[in-house]
Parts: sequence; structure tokens; C-alpha cells
Amino acid sequence: MNVIFGSAGFAKELDWLIYEIAEKTNIDFTPNYFVSKSDVGSTLNGKKIISEGEFFKIVETGISINVFLGVGSPIIKEKIYENLKHFKNLNYPNLIHPNAIMDKREGMLKMGFGNVFFPSSVLTTYITIGNFVLFYLDCSVGHDTEIESFTTISPGCHISGNVKIGKTVYFGTGAVTVEKIEIKSNSIIGAGATVTNSIVEQGTYVGTPAKKIK
Ligand SMILES: CC(C)(COP(=O)(O)OP(=O)(O)OC[C@H]1O[C@@H](n2cnc3c(N)ncnc32)[C@H](O)[C@@H]1OP(=O)(O)O)[C@@H](O)C(=O)NCCC(=O)NCCS
Repeated sequence: MNVIFGSAGFAKELDWLIYEIAEKTNIDFTPNYFVSKSDVGSTLNGKKIISEGEFFKIVETGISINVFLGVGSPIIKEKIYENLKHFKNLNYPNLIHPNAIMDKREGMLKMGFGNVFFPSSVLTTYITIGNFVLFYLDCSVGHDTEIESFTTISPGCHISGNVKIGKTVYFGTGAVTVEKIEIKSNSIIGAGATVTNSIVEQGTYVGTPAKKIK
């Protein structure tokens, strides 16, 4: 069984990504349900939206379930996983569109589980990523970069080489970093920002060069 957590815009896009992957490869994670706090009982793309309570009843049957986190917010992704991680029958496959580019040579890309690669995401080489990292449409990540779990990299972002990104960092659309910097966990980088120095204090950063606003 396959389920997508969430029923808003990103859940719809993840459903589409799963459809794309199934159409172009032999990997089929077509969801049986969406799990959400809103719109319970209605349908998305013909699939029923069920509540967390209904989902946990299915989980308790012990059936093996592939779970996909259909939310963009790093903090919410982490919260969902924290609630699910002790169930041994839940799996979190990586979702990789065939048009995503990455170094498939042995040991060159180290990654955990639950990561999502949309079309035209490009990762070069010697890259390490954690779990539930989202690489959205048309983003790029340079060599020797490390990205910790739950981080979201929105469309059109470019992360240069030798960058170290903490956990639950959010990059808005079109954000860019220079090389050899670090970005503190839980930071938010605004759409279109250019990060030119390490972010050592958690906060919200916007503009070129990026400055802290919150
Ligand atoms: C950075 C961001 C998270 C801030 O959101 P927020 O905390 O709600 O902040 P506000 O909207 O209150 O804006 C605060 C100030 O920063 C400015 N600002 C907000 N985002 C900005 C951005 N990306 N670049 C430059 N300035 C920005 C606002 O104009 C406002 O300025 P003011 O105080 O002079 O009026 C948000 O604006 C953003 O860029 N989100 C990314 C959205 C995105 O790319 N989504 C991807 C979907 S796929």
C-alpha cells in the first residue's frame, strides 16, 4: 500500500511525480490514500482522503505501507516523521524522477530515505544527503555538499559546491548560495535570495546579499 501525507498543493504535485515515475519506469507507488487533517472523506485524483486516525487503524493491521510526505515545510515533515518512525511496517522510499541527474557511481552520492527528486534536479558529485530532503524542479547542487534531513530546496535554487546545510532548512524559489559556506539548521532563505556568507544564526534571510529579517 502507498499513502501520501498531505492534501494541499505539494501533495498534488507529489501525486503527479509518482504518476510520472510510474509512466516512465517500472516503479509504481500510485497512492491508495491521502492522509490529511483537512478535506477528510473527499477525494483527490480519485483517491480518498483519510484522517490520521483512519490511517493508524490501517497501520495497526501490520500491512507494509510506503509513506510519502506531501508537504513542503521542513518542520511539518519532521513532525509527521516523529509520529510515524516507531512503526516498523512503514517504509519511506526515495522518489527519483528519471530526468533527475545525479552521480550513480558507487559511493558518490550518499543518501538516506524519503528523499524526493523532481524533474531537472541536478546533483553533481561527492554529495551527502540525509532523509526527506526535497529537490524541487530545476534546482542544482554542487560537489562536496552536505544536506541534512528534512531540508526543502524549492524550484530554481542553486546550491554551490562545498556547502554544508543543516537540518530543516527551507530555501524559497530561486535562492542561490555561493560555495564553501554553512547554513544553520532551521533557517529560512527567502525566494530569490543570494546567500554570500555562512548563516550561523537561525532565522529568516532575504535579498542579495541575504540579510536576516527575523
Ligand atoms: C522569506 C519568506 C519566508 C518570509 O515570509 P514572512 O516571514 O511571512 O515575511 P513577510 O512576508 O512578513 O515579509 C517581511 C519583509 O520581508 C520582505 N520579503 C519577504 N520575502 C522576501 C523575499 N523573498 N525577498 C526580499 N524581501 C522579502 C517583505 O517584503 C517584508 O518587507 P517589509 O517589512 O519592508 O514590508 C517569504 O517571503 C518567502 O520568500 N517564501 C518563499 C516562498 C517560496 O519560494 N515558495 C516556494 C513554493 S514552491
